[in-house]
Amino acid sequence: MSERVFAPREVLREAEAVLAAGGVGSPAFDAAELLAHVLGTTRPQLSTVAEVGPGDRAAFEALVARRAAREPLQHLLGTAWFRYTTVAVGPGVFVPRPETELLAGWAVEQAKGWRDMTGEWPVVVDLCTGSGVIAKAIAEEVPMATVHAVELDPAAHGWAARNLEGTGVDLRLGDMATAFADLDGQVDVISCNPPYIPLEAWESVAPEARDHDPDLALYSGVDGLDAMRVLEGVAARLLRPGGVVGAEHADAQGDAAPAVFIGTGRWQDVRDHLDLAGRPRYLTARLAR
Ligand SMILES: C[S@@+](CC[C@H](N)C(=O)[O-])C[C@H]1O[C@@H](n2cnc3c(N)ncnc32)[C@H](O)[C@@H]1O
Repeated sequence: MSERVFAPREVLREAEAVLAAGGVGSPAFDAAELLAHVLGTTRPQLSTVAEVGPGDRAAFEALVARRAAREPLQHLLGTAWFRYTTVAVGPGVFVPRPETELLAGWAVEQAKGWRDMTGEWPVVVDLCTGSGVIAKAIAEEVPMATVHAVELDPAAHGWAARNLEGTGVDLRLGDMATAFADLDGQVDVISCNPPYIPLEAWESVAPEARDHDPDLALYSGVDGLDAMRVLEGVAARLLRPGGVVGAEHADAQGDAAPAVFIGTGRWQDVRDHLDLAGRPRYLTARLAR
């Protein structure tokens, strides 16, 4: 007796309904990514798949149920895409967000620009590196840069170690507040995506983040800017005069986050930058000469 097979379109349609009922924001995309994952293909290639066998369908439905319960798509896939690279992710590490690609792109451009301006390859530091994703993107896009990264959470550091293996990035476990004493005054470019959600705003955080990203990656004091204030001091310590720092912040912090830098009087060219949706997303500043 032949096993029953299913049309991919039918399987996807049912999954989309389950995901939409669970409140997933992009049910068609997520269903297609999960089916492609189970079938060992890519989402664009799904149109070439003629049928789904019962074993694959069962495996797919199990993943769809987990996604409908708001497990992050990237945890189910085991991978997050970021600019031209990917990183492994799962429980214990912050899932990289697409909006952070802008900050990483700024850091890549600054690193390349430093070389153009000075004739020397830059020293770059990524603080709060999490999965190591920004450091990995910089190391791959500017291979001659010297890249350092630090992460406080041992579990996240473990993911970063795996993701940065073979990239040449100097990864350390520790608190950014005291990290890289050996690099004081020698760094050209700093990137940082710190925790920035106000403690009391936890209820407004999406279940994927609230229940699966580590708290240390999300929350940062009453106004969400505790880590930003630490970063300001660390960047002033690490950068050489004229060096630059870029830091992501919440969209509600478009004035408050740059004010942390403006307030100390040691920075020039403090600017805030919008994301593709027009929301304030990251600040940049240059250490006064
Ligand atoms: C929002 S996540 C960003 C992770 C990664 N850079 C990214 O963009 O996907 C912030 C990270 O900072 C780490 N972290 C929080 N406080 C830190 C500190 N004082 N020193 C170093 N890392 C810290 C958290 O554990 C978390 O991995």
